[in-house]
Amino acid sequence: MKIIILFGALFIGFIVWKYWALLIGAGYDPTPMHRVKKMLEIALTNENDIVYDLGSGDGRIIITAARSFGARAVGIEADPFRFIFSWLNVIFTGQKKKIKVCFGDFFKFDLSEATVIILFLYGPTNDRLKSKLMRELKPGSRVVSYVWQFKDWIFDECLINDDIFLYRIPEAVDNDTD
Ligand SMILES: C[S@@+](CC[C@H](N)C(=O)[O-])C[C@H]1O[C@@H](n2cnc3c(N)ncnc32)[C@H](O)[C@@H]1O
Repeated sequence: MKIIILFGALFIGFIVWKYWALLIGAGYDPTPMHRVKKMLEIALTNENDIVYDLGSGDGRIIITAARSFGARAVGIEADPFRFIFSWLNVIFTGQKKKIKVCFGDFFKFDLSEATVIILFLYGPTNDRLKSKLMRELKPGSRVVSYVWQFKDWIFDECLINDDIFLYRIPEAVDNDTD
């Protein structure tokens, strides 16, 4: 009997762990590596950039941004296991100086230093992020979304066969009529 309760609890724990991230933004699904490269390429990522991956999973995007594009990179991840895993990944790949991994909800982080934002989330989550991105990012910053577009935003470029969409934050609109 005890063993059934134990397995039941483990099973429920596993299901909660697997799906709770859906409630706060998006479930886990890693971006295929060839698309990671394309997302960073379409943003013209270079050594002057600070790349943020919102929901950084196993760290593949921030590690590629630092290792292959010379950028500084920050990942924000709310899943404690993936946060620890990605942090170890960063250490093992020798990119500790260029990469920071933060634990928590990306809605609560200041994104203003980012020049490139990478997203693989969920349509409604992208839309919830819009006002934050417009408020905190500098004009000209690039936002690259995999799979999901932003409702009512027109992308600047896309790789339609790869489901990759690039947006640029516009100059602030001056409503002063003087
Ligand atoms: C679809 S996966 C993408 C992982 C990684 N960016 C990639 O492309 O391989 C989405 C990730 O976002 C994380 N996530 C979802 N909502 C979040 C939130 N509000 N704050 C931080 N991380 C979040 C999930 O835990 C998951 O690891």
